[in-house]
Amino acid sequence: MNEAQAIDVHGISKVYRGGLFGRRKFRALNEVSLAVGRGEIFGLLGPNGAGKTTLIKVLLGIIRNNGGSGSLLGESLGSRGSRGRIGYLPENLRMDSHHNALSALDFYGGLSGLSRSVIRSRRDSILELVGLADRRKTPVKEYSKGMRQRLGLAQALLHDPDLLVLDEPTDGLDPVGRNQIRGILRELRERGKTVFLNSHILQEVELICDRIGILNHGVLLMDSGVAALSQQDTQEFTLEVVADEPTLLGVLGEIPFTVNEQHDGVTKLSLRLSNQGEVDQVVDILRRAGISIAAMSRRTLSLEERFLDIVGTSNDDTSETPNDETSTPT
Ligand SMILES: Nc1ncnc2c1ncn2[C@@H]1O[C@H](COP(=O)(O)OP(=O)(O)O)[C@@H](O)[C@H]1O
Ligand SMILES: [Mg+2]
Repeated sequence: MNEAQAIDVHGISKVYRGGLFGRRKFRALNEVSLAVGRGEIFGLLGPNGAGKTTLIKVLLGIIRNNGGSGSLLGESLGSRGSRGRIGYLPENLRMDSHHNALSALDFYGGLSGLSRSVIRSRRDSILELVGLADRRKTPVKEYSKGMRQRLGLAQALLHDPDLLVLDEPTDGLDPVGRNQIRGILRELRERGKTVFLNSHILQEVELICDRIGILNHGVLLMDSGVAALSQQDTQEFTLEVVADEPTLLGVLGEIPFTVNEQHDGVTKLSLRLSNQGEVDQVVDILRRAGISIAAMSRRTLSLEERFLDIVGTSNDDTSETPNDETSTPT
């Protein structure tokens, strides 16, 4: 167990079983290893269905992993020892709409085993922190989505946890609402809390997190893998070339990069390259085959595009659920 880390897990796998007698298996997490230092804001980024919520549930001991081990706040995974020091905001938390902020905190605080007097002594400052102090008596049913989410955060903070685990805290919020949540998380970092959050939105984690992991199909890409994301010099080159089809086909196999071909009047080849050497290499191959380059343009890839390069542009194949789309027979 490592007390220096808030979260420290190794080789975590999770296999869901479904179908008759649990014969259908689906591997939602594949040997995930991860360490989050105390006081850090860590962002787990990944498309829908990547396994982010599954990882959170394993970390919190809500579901059991099928392989791997680790610790949370120094207590072994799945033990109850650390629970009192963790605040959790589940995905799509729904609070009863008859509550107002005060009664909701009384209720959730009671569930966490806090005494009435402790709840009363903390709730004002927490509502202040999440910006709901002046709406404390407004019924939750009149709250905007952002206000509900901030009340959800308040609920997670009431027992003054060391580690906050937030599943898609900004999902469905407008830019103002997202910014408010980010402000609260920054304040929590100032106060020395550790935050682990999930998001499928790149900008969200980019703006607030100290470190990012990318989860895709249950496989986690950490530090060095993610560094590829911030490589500022990945650019997309588009070359307009003059070549007949057989020559072009012959030469494409020689180019050691992925080439996208487009024909709209002229032939355009698009490639993602990261330095001048690679550009020269492609130009040399084309010129050696006698292909003329009529024009060349380049564009720096956005972080979003680089993220999509890593996770693939489509989420369609991430789901193993049997909601088969009707396919046209070919
Ligand atoms: N209880 C479950 N039984 C079977 N499969 C599940 C269950 N929960 C999630 N899954 C599947 O595991 C994968 C990861 O889901 P989830 O962790 O919710 O992803 P994310 O939070 O990244 O969107 C998905 O393909 C999902 O369909
Ligand atoms: Mg999820």
